[in-house]
Amino acid sequence: MTENGQRHPAIIGITGASGSVLARAAIDRLLAMGVPVIATASSAARMVWQEEMDESFGAALERWSDSEDFAYYAAADLRAPIASGTFPTLGMAIVPCSMATVAAIAHGLADNLVRRAADVCLKERRPLVLVPRETPLNAIHLENMASLARLGVTILPPEPPFYLALKTIDDIVDFVVQRVLAAMGIIGQLSPEMRYEGPSNPSGTSHA
Ligand SMILES: Cc1cc2nc3c(=O)[nH]c(=O)nc-3n(C[C@H](O)[C@H](O)[C@H](O)COP(=O)(O)O)c2cc1C
Repeated sequence: MTENGQRHPAIIGITGASGSVLARAAIDRLLAMGVPVIATASSAARMVWQEEMDESFGAALERWSDSEDFAYYAAADLRAPIASGTFPTLGMAIVPCSMATVAAIAHGLADNLVRRAADVCLKERRPLVLVPRETPLNAIHLENMASLARLGVTILPPEPPFYLALKTIDDIVDFVVQRVLAAMGIIGQLSPEMRYEGPSNPSGTSHA
């Protein structure tokens, strides 16, 4: 993570799938952990954010920008450092990830900064975690995700862990964010309440 005392940033890409709350929670948690974050968001991401969130995207950007560990680049800004493989990062999570962005990455269409930064992670063999949100999925969605999984991308749908006794949407958001950070290698394991520790009754419980 560090080289010559420099801490490498994690990239968070935000796209126009439902689940803006996941992006906010991922950035909040990384900054709280002292991990530098570079964020970028598509124009559709901002549209969906407006539909789903009480805090405006601009207000969230202002709040994050209070931290020296935070930087934001517009999706049109292809001169941002994360557009180049020479700029070291911890890898990228796209959260939430639309089917349009899944398709673009699967086909090498690096036509905005979210997609280019993901393309860079692929070519540099850095962690790339996608949190796809769509239901139901058609065969095109599934084929694109399978192509990316074969390249080593982690496909991490924001699914609730029904086997844990989580009570609120906030708990589920926290679970998904922890899963993302673990998949990026930023945390070693999930917090105790998010871990399956064996069946609570003799007949057992299934888990994944
Ligand atoms: C309110 C809203 C919710 C959406 N939810 C999803 C979704 O859950 N999954 C998805 O793949 N696309 C969803 N879309 C459509 C995408 O935003 C659209 O395909 C867009 O072109 C994606 O662009 P991007 O990948 O550059 O962000 C939604 C759009 C809107 C306006």
